[in-house]
Amino acid sequence: MTQMPTLFVCALCKFPAAAADVGDTTGGQRLIDQLMEHLPPDAGISLQPVRCMAACDRACNAALSAPGKLTFIFNDLSPHQSAPDLATFCRQYAEAVGGKVPYSLRSPAIKQATAYVLPPPANEAVEAAIAP
Ligand code: FES
Repeated sequence: MTQMPTLFVCALCKFPAAAADVGDTTGGQRLIDQLMEHLPPDAGISLQPVRCMAACDRACNAALSAPGKLTFIFNDLSPHQSAPDLATFCRQYAEAVGGKVPYSLRSPAIKQATAYVLPPPANEAVEAAIAP
């Protein structure tokens, strides 16, 4: 059984200097609110708010991972504009073997926001090999 991908989004990230503030809402929470509209519960993506990802000067921050797949780490996401592109990428990622979404299929915004791409943990392969 394949586990659904998880999109971690920092709820505490501030608005970037160039983005307008929205009352008491943080930039990260604004992004999460937007993502909830683009990733309904039946989208097959688990949206998980987190409290600080230790990249506060690169707000907004998010990470996408799933067992046996690449992990993508994003920063400098726009609280107002990144949700549609990020949601589309999450769907591409969910369908792609190993999470390997072809670079040519990634939106310009996703290409720009991708800070790091990590392989699946090595122990996942070992655990899969010894599982009953
Ligand atoms: S507040 Fe978002 S990374 Fe620290």
